[in-house]
Formats: sequence, C-alpha cells, structure tokens
Amino acid sequence: MSQKHDLTRRDASKLAVAAAALTITGAPFISKVKAANNTVQYGFIGTGSRGQYLLQHLKGLDNGTCVAVCDVYEPNMRKGAELIGNKPKQFKDYRELLADKSVDAVLIATPLYMHFPVTKDALDAGKHVFCEKSLVFKPEEIHALRALSNSKPKQTLQVGLQRRYSKFYQTAKQMIDKGMLGTVTHIRGQWHRNTFAKDPWNKPLPKDRTDKDVNWRKYREYSGGLTAELASHQIDVADWMFGAQPEYVVGVGGTDYIKDGRDIFDNIQLIFKYPKGQKLHYTSITTNRHCPLFNAERTEFGECIMGTQGTIHITVGTDSEPALGMWYMEPALPKVEGADKKSPTFQASSSLASTGKGGKALPILFEKDTVTGNDSFVDREMKFARQWLYRKGVLVPEEDRNPVDIELESFFNDIKANTKPKSDLEVGLHDSAAVMLANRCMYEERKVLFSEIDNMGKAEAKPVKKA
Ligand SMILES: NC(=O)c1ccc[n+]([C@@H]2O[C@H](COP(=O)([O-])OP(=O)(O)OC[C@H]3O[C@@H](n4cnc5c(N)ncnc54)[C@H](O)[C@@H]3O)[C@@H](O)[C@H]2O)c1
Repeated sequence: MSQKHDLTRRDASKLAVAAAALTITGAPFISKVKAANNTVQYGFIGTGSRGQYLLQHLKGLDNGTCVAVCDVYEPNMRKGAELIGNKPKQFKDYRELLADKSVDAVLIATPLYMHFPVTKDALDAGKHVFCEKSLVFKPEEIHALRALSNSKPKQTLQVGLQRRYSKFYQTAKQMIDKGMLGTVTHIRGQWHRNTFAKDPWNKPLPKDRTDKDVNWRKYREYSGGLTAELASHQIDVADWMFGAQPEYVVGVGGTDYIKDGRDIFDNIQLIFKYPKGQKLHYTSITTNRHCPLFNAERTEFGECIMGTQGTIHITVGTDSEPALGMWYMEPALPKVEGADKKSPTFQASSSLASTGKGGKALPILFEKDTVTGNDSFVDREMKFARQWLYRKGVLVPEEDRNPVDIELESFFNDIKANTKPKSDLEVGLHDSAAVMLANRCMYEERKVLFSEIDNMGKAEAKPVKKA
C-alpha cells in the first residue's frame, strides 16, 4: 500500500481550516499614536552595536520619542544621537539621564553585568524599563529585581526576548496548545558559528578602549558567554513551548578551540529536564555553522520542536533573511485489518514502515493564507495558490513585521495601557536563572537543580524599600 505524503488540494484545504482555527489574535494595539505629545518619551542607555540596531528600528515607530541617549564611550553616544536624528540630549553618565524629568522610560543595551545596576536605578527613578536579554547577571539580582519591580506595579518592565513577539513563534505555540503536534516531548536548539571565518566577539579595538571594554562577552567577569548571549533566547522558547521551567540541567562546556585569553567556553552542550520528562537539548559551538534544519538552507540557529504527531522547525529572521517555520507531520502508521496494535509484530512492522520515510514539510500558515468560509472565490483561489507555492518551496510565508519592531512598539503601548508585556519580569528572570544555573552546571561539572536558585545570593540581596 502506498502511503500518500504528497498533500492533495483537499488535504491542504483541511489543514488550512485547522490552521485558520489558530488565527493569531496579535498584540493588543491600544491606540494609534500620532500626536508627538502622546508618545512615550524615552532615553536610550548603551548605544553600542545592539543599541544602534534598536535605535534604527525605533526611528520608524510613532508611539515613542527619543529625548536622550547615553553611553560611557563618546563616539557611541554621538552615533546613537545621530541615528535617531532628532537631537536628543546626550549623557555619558546614565544617572544624569535618569534625573531628567522629560524621560518617562529607558531602553537599556549595556553589557550584561550593567543590566541590573542600570535597571534598578531606573526603576527607583520612576522610569519604565526595557532591558536587553539576559535580564540579570547574578543570582542576588534575581531576588532583588523581583522584589523591586513587584513593588512598582505601575512601571512596565520588559526584556528583549523578541521571539515572544514573532507571529511564527506565536503560531507554533498555538499549534502546540491545540494538540496539533500531539504531546511535545523534546526540543532541540542550536546556535552554531564558525568564528574561524568571522568572530563577532573579537571586534577590533579603537586606540582608547581595552579588550574588556569592547569584547566584554569573552570574560566571565562581565558575561555569561554563549549561554547568556545566545542560548538565553532558545531556553526561553523551550520554557514557553513546554509551558514550564526546567527541574535540572546537566552539561559540558570547554574553552577548547579559541585560545585568545577568553575565559568563557567556546562550546557548550546542555540538557534541561522539565517536570513531565520533556527535554531541551541545546548546543552552541564556534567551529562550524551548519544547521540541519530547513534542509540546511539556513545556517547557525533554529529550534526543532518534536511531538508525538509532528515536528516544527523554526527560526527568527535576520536583517537579510526571513523568519522560517516549517511543520512536518509524523508519517502515518500502515493500516492492518484486525491488527492488535499492542502486539510486538505490529509495532515492529509500524516502525519499519516509518523508517526512512519522512513527512513533507508544510509552512506554518498565517491568517492571510488560511481559507475561511467568508473568502470570496478569488480570495480562496489566491490562498490555495499561495499554499501550493509554499509547498513547492517557490514562496515562503513571511512575517509582515520584524518582531523587533513589534516588541518595541508593544513596550510603549504596554506603558500607556499599564498592561503586561509578553516578555515580562518573570519571563526575564526565569530565563536569567536558567542561564546562571546552566553555566554553573558546566563550571562545577555537576547536575544543578533549578530549586537551588531560591537560596543562591539571598545573603547578598539588599532589602528593597517599598515604593
Ligand atoms: N535581543 C537580541 O537579539 C540581542 C542581540 C545583540 C545584543 N543583545 C544584548 O544587548 C546588550 C548589548 O550588546 P552589544 O552587542 O550592543 O554590546 P556593545 O559592547 O556593542 O555595546 C554596549 C554599549 O554599552 C556601553 N556601556 C557600557 N557601560 C555603560 C554604562 N555604564 N553606561 C552607559 N553605557 C555603557 C558601551 O560603551 C557600549 O557602547 C547585551 O546585553 C546583549 O546581550 C541582544
């Protein structure tokens, strides 16, 4: 009997209807702000590489206005001001920016070790905060920030985990919650780079800056290495998709290939175990950038979400490549009349039947591509045509907006409506705890329980005054 994996138009239509049930509700758009005086006035702290990227995206938004920029390094401060373009005030000391009454909110893209001090001072100064991932660096900062932020419920705190704002990832989450992948048991995440071709963590040094100023990511004193800088995004994806936080983590890392004075690991392998037995298997290396997802058409990073009835390959876009989300159904078992499904013979024949025969990929479909009962004849035919082109690989569904734009716009909207960000305090703190514990398991070469965080750094945490 031939198993039919090539989808017929009827199959596609059924899938389209299923996907239509997953219509994305989208972030609540509170009000379309046009008037300058109704925008959130913000200051930007840390206008280095990420800061400059975010400022370019902020420039296109109409619900936030940059009134100040700050960087300890003057050329970066000037560059930030130049990029945003509306003559913001310029500060070298972030405390002076925080003292400025015209600033309602701050965005923070300093190196990791400065996230907590700046966030804490900003909250104390009454500002709303968007802070890049990983939110905090040390265990005591988790406890202190939780207490401080919870004591200021009117001040928004958002962390820069932009996958939470991606329609692809939101659709994957909805597919999982609707049971379309069966029971999701495993996620594999990877972020591989070939730093022998190009090492983004070894930037050339201007005459007036040290390696620790510019390439701070290489040093444990300032950085959580690959775990904080790369894995943090994907650990958060696993927490979100599993709807849980891990129970423990085991792993191995080493500084085995890059001998340039760095004391962070240049390769890490981690397994996080979640409460129902689910596992996140995570790998980040710096010697090869092959990615086996998406028929190896992309390099470096992505996640593979595996359920008993299907699999999703997913990744975010870059400035030059679109986001991708592909869905594979598990190959169907052969139907055997009167077969006892529990018998070893049936199970052996089933596993043989599925060995080596994978399912064809379907793109994750968005609302604009899914057929509904209200579609006109022409619209329906257009959607079928687009789906057919997707299946043939001629077209790929694309997010209409970069999730970075959505996360920034949502930050300002959440401030105005006092609503909870999708990547809020707890998302950021759980993510940071996972980064710290994963590093600890590799540094100390032992299995680390997530419950350990409760007692870590408690003695060092300073009491926080209630507002
Ligand atoms: N969400 C993402 O996808 C993403 C991507 C890249 C970077 N990041 C995060 O953004 C942060 C910054 O990364 P980067 O690549 O821009 O680093 P960077 O070194 O290029 O920039 C950091 C800037 O902060 C400035 N700075 C340092 N201490 C300061 C202080 N006390 N006050 C004001 N400015 C100070 C530095 O002079 C520098 O200009 C990191 O936490 C990183 O993890 C997030």
